[in-house]
Amino acid sequence: MLARAIEKVELAKRIQQLEKQLGNKHSFATILGKSKPILLAIEMAKKVAVTDTTVLLTGETGTGKEVFAQSIHQASTRSKNNFVAINCSAFSKDLLESEMFGHKSGAFTGAVVDKRGLFEEANNGTIFLDEIGEMSLELQAKLLRVIETGEFIKVGETKTTKVNVRIIVATHRDLKRKLNPDIFREDLFYRLAVFQIKLPALSERVLDIEVSCKYFVVLFAAKTNKQLKTITPEFLEMLKQHAFPGNIRELKNIIERSVILTTGDALSPDSLPFEIQSKTNTSSGSKILSAFDLASAEKIHIQKVLNYTNGNKTEAARLLNIALTTLYRKLEEYKIS
Ligand SMILES: Nc1ncnc2c1ncn2[C@@H]1O[C@H](COP(=O)(O)OP(=O)(O)OP(=O)(O)O)[C@@H](O)[C@H]1O
Ligand SMILES: [Mg+2]
Repeated sequence: MLARAIEKVELAKRIQQLEKQLGNKHSFATILGKSKPILLAIEMAKKVAVTDTTVLLTGETGTGKEVFAQSIHQASTRSKNNFVAINCSAFSKDLLESEMFGHKSGAFTGAVVDKRGLFEEANNGTIFLDEIGEMSLELQAKLLRVIETGEFIKVGETKTTKVNVRIIVATHRDLKRKLNPDIFREDLFYRLAVFQIKLPALSERVLDIEVSCKYFVVLFAAKTNKQLKTITPEFLEMLKQHAFPGNIRELKNIIERSVILTTGDALSPDSLPFEIQSKTNTSSGSKILSAFDLASAEKIHIQKVLNYTNGNKTEAARLLNIALTTLYRKLEEYKIS
């Protein structure tokens, strides 16, 4: 009885998490990983979340910098107010200033109405400035002023505006190496780097590949209404041997693709991108195919048709327009079971 009740609660919790993930609203509960480096990063982030301290998140692309920024906001006393994110590398210098601080009508051609900036949107909440290393020196000076006084001047305005905003910044570069009066202000760096959290690359935490993989399978199976029950050991093995330069984002995308491609109830290596299949060696002894190998496409095609016919080989051979004996030979050759 009790076990069943606990199971129910666990399931309810899991669904809640899934919903949050689908809506991309992250909190510490949705951060995946059980390895030491990620648990350490979470612990540090939880400690700083309850303060108003500026946080600098560093780490390779796709390591979860934005996920952590959202989680810190959610765990803070500001969680009821806005979390606003802006990627500093996505705007030209002038546009970024107007986005961040807003402008007065007539400030420049096209500025027909007054515009509130993101700092105002984030008032009493949190602003997340991504790719901070790409910010111009001029804006760096303005940012330093907001950090120190909470004040800024909108583009085309003369009076100051005051806000109460918690600032979280991120970079995938080594900002310290950019410290140079012509590139990145040292005084700003030290204000931003009061509390730095370095997010570990997925390659530094292979243990988390399996944990995250299982989670994303459940997530995307739910999203696509698929009855996926198992992940084959070969599939996991191939993932573990991959370097993941795009980190969790790459893993997430790979799993989404695999789930879409799979029609049966098990995720197998055939659903993985060619680069991963061709780079890895499987212990099952199946033939390793290169991405450009014509046989590679044939193998995947046969697998897809078999999935379509629910494993019925006669039907598959008919659809493939080949003799059943030829199909058996190919199944043997490609080690498709
Ligand atoms: N630890 C994690 N748990 C769950 N999902 C994660 C985790 N890390 C990253 N993700 C997922 O991976 C994707 C990329 O995460 P995010 O945008 O936070 O990375 P990033 O470090 O900001 O990357 P970039 O430097 O490219 O901006 C998102 O879809 C996010 O949901
Ligand atoms: Mg990001």
